[in-house]
Amino acid sequence: MSALLSVEGLRVHFPVGRGGLFARQRMLKAVDGIDLTLAAGEALALVGESGCGKTTLGRAVAGLMPASAGTIRFRGADITAAAARRRSDARRTIQTVFQDPFSSLDPRMLISAIIVEPLTIHGIGSAAERAARARALIEQVGLPQAALNRYPHEFSGGQRQRIAIARALSADPILIVADEPLSALDVSIQSQILNLLRDLQQARQLAYLFISHDLAVVNHLADRVAVMYLGRLVELAPRDALYRTPSHPYTKALLDSIPRIGRGRRAAAAVMSAPRKRMVPALEAAPGNDPARAGQVAACHFKE
Ligand SMILES: Nc1ncnc2c1ncn2[C@@H]1O[C@H](COP(=O)(O)OP(=O)(O)OP(=O)(O)O)[C@@H](O)[C@H]1O
Ligand SMILES: [Mg+2]
Repeated sequence: MSALLSVEGLRVHFPVGRGGLFARQRMLKAVDGIDLTLAAGEALALVGESGCGKTTLGRAVAGLMPASAGTIRFRGADITAAAARRRSDARRTIQTVFQDPFSSLDPRMLISAIIVEPLTIHGIGSAAERAARARALIEQVGLPQAALNRYPHEFSGGQRQRIAIARALSADPILIVADEPLSALDVSIQSQILNLLRDLQQARQLAYLFISHDLAVVNHLADRVAVMYLGRLVELAPRDALYRTPSHPYTKALLDSIPRIGRGRRAAAAVMSAPRKRMVPALEAAPGNDPARAGQVAACHFKE
C-alpha cells in the first residue's frame, strides 16, 4: 500500500543575520533532512522541544511554507512545489488547525461563513449546500446551531477551537495538520477537544500530523510518534513501543521529564493539568538550541 503522505529529505532553511560581501549568508536549518510517511487514517504525533522545527515541518507539509530541498508526496503526487500543489487536490484535502483559536478566525466573519470558507475558496457546492454543510458541521463539533449566526469574539477559546476544527473539516480533508491545537486552551477544555479530535478521526478515517509538546496528550491520540530534535527526527516508532522502550537517549530524556506517563489515564490527565513547562530543561539550555545563537556552536548541525 502506498503512503498517504511521504516526505523525503525535507529541508527548510531560513537565512539568518546579514550575509556580507565576504561572509557567506548563514542559514538556520529549521528542518534539516526529514523522512517520514503517514498512512491513511493514521495519527502521527510530532514531538520535541520548542524551536526544534515542528511548526516549520507542519507548515511545509500543509503547503504554507516552501521547502528548501526534498520532496513531499501526497497520494503519490509530488506536491513539493506550490504550482504542483495548486494543481493537486492536496490543497483541499490537507487542512490545518492551529494553536491559537483567537487569531485563526477572522473576527469580521460570521461563524457560518468561517466554517465553509474552504468550500467557498474552492467553489464547491451551492450557497444552500454550503449552509447545510455548516449546520451539520457545527453539530459534529458539539456547538448549537445558533452559533452559526454569531461572530468569533462571542466564543470562548475551546469553542473557537471547535469552530476551527469544523472549518478544517468542511472540505472533507483526509489529512489534518494540527499544530499544538490544545496548548492555548484551558486545561479543563483540553481533554474535550482531544476527545473530539479522536472521535472525528475514527468517524472519518482522518490522518493527523499532530504537533505537540505534551507527551501525555500524544499518548491519547497517536498511532506513531516522531521525535524531533534540532531539525531532524531522532526516533520514529509506534506509540507503545516508543513509550515502553525508547531507543534514543533524547526520547528517554523526554519521557523521563514526565515520569507519570504510562501510569494510566488519571496520571496522564494530571500531567496535562500541570502548567506547561519545558520538557527537558538541560537540553533546552544546551548551546546551539537557541535559534538566536545559531551559528555559535561549531559541532551543531543547526549551523551552516
Ligand atoms: N520564518 C522564519 N524565519 C526565520 N526563522 C524561522 C522562521 N520560522 C521559524 N524559524 C526558526 O526555525 C526554528 C524552528 O521553529 P519552529 O517554529 O518550527 O519550532 P517549533 O518546534 O514549532 O517550536 P515551538 O514548540 O516553540 O512552537 C526556530 O529556531 C525558529 O526561530
Ligand atoms: Mg511550533
